[in-house]
Amino acid sequence: MASKNQLHHHFTCLALLIFILGICEATSRAALEDASMYERHQQWMVQFGRVYMDTNERQKRFQIFKQNVARIDSFNAANNKPYKLGVNQFADLTNQEFTASRNGFKGHMCSNTATTFKYENATALPSTVDWRKKGAVTPIKDQGQCGCCWAFSAVAAMEGVTKLTTGKLISLSEQELVDCDTKGEDQGCEGGLMDDAFQFIEKNKGLTTESIYPYKGVDGTCNTNEEANHAAKINGFEDVPANSEDALQKAVANQPVSVAIDAGGFDFQFYSGGVFTGSCGTDLDHGVTAVGYGEDGGTKYWLVKNSWGSSWGEEGYIRMQRDVDAKEGLCGIAMQASYPTA
Ligand SMILES: *[C@@H]1O[C@H](CO)[C@@H](O)[C@H](O)[C@H]1NC(C)=O
Repeated sequence: MASKNQLHHHFTCLALLIFILGICEATSRAALEDASMYERHQQWMVQFGRVYMDTNERQKRFQIFKQNVARIDSFNAANNKPYKLGVNQFADLTNQEFTASRNGFKGHMCSNTATTFKYENATALPSTVDWRKKGAVTPIKDQGQCGCCWAFSAVAAMEGVTKLTTGKLISLSEQELVDCDTKGEDQGCEGGLMDDAFQFIEKNKGLTTESIYPYKGVDGTCNTNEEANHAAKINGFEDVPANSEDALQKAVANQPVSVAIDAGGFDFQFYSGGVFTGSCGTDLDHGVTAVGYGEDGGTKYWLVKNSWGSSWGEEGYIRMQRDVDAKEGLCGIAMQASYPTA
């Protein structure tokens, strides 16, 4: 018969064995998960044509990808927001890297000048507006790794007003703004302001087309020959009175409007659909274009055209919650809105 000591020894061994098996099981599960994540990263690289310099870079990007995917998956699993996140083309970038390379609205340096607001007495506003359906919005563009959102925002608003006044939808040149509009706050890929862009276009007596002066996504020298070819013009611009979503609605009911937002958050980086309700602050760092508004399941939203390609968001668009409690609007959307006049 085993002594008490021997029995105790047996139990210790058994416990140790179970413990070791447990570790083995845990490590192999982790290895399997890692392998399937590695596979997912591999597929993602193919999907978005991503190529890394070397294995170090790949390993570093894989770790970031893994963390982002885990956070996106757990957000979607929680299922407690009216929007979803997706593993999009930005999944191997930290949020800091992402905002540093994509945004570029110099909001904190700017105060809205007091201009007239021609839509101040606009009444009987439609409950839903979608300027795409009126043919006043060009296809989604992609600014790439250049912080010239301000140019895309201004151009989209100008494309809109041009269609409404001339009947023609013409895709206009962001690169002309990046290369030629270097005064004031506008510094190409290093950021700028939509109002300064409108001012430049007015002084320049127009802007040329996307096809004549195509987008390159890097700072360049101004091509004055191409610049001289004006395809559309504006007379000036007006600022929407700040911090009023009602005023913004009056403007958007009448034409696409440039808006500045705080797009620096993780949820914004990976937004894939639904009505975005935040979280976000009001540290304006991105220029986009409000091209409509509406209501979905009792939640009012702004329809916003972004310039991050069509694999981001809802085919390149985001619907952002409208008429929130804060007067600044969600992500500060009502703080610095403006539109060109023609
Ligand atoms: C709006 O209405 C007020 C009061 O009638 C008028 O003074 C103002 O000029 C109008 N604004 C515009 C832009 O028409």
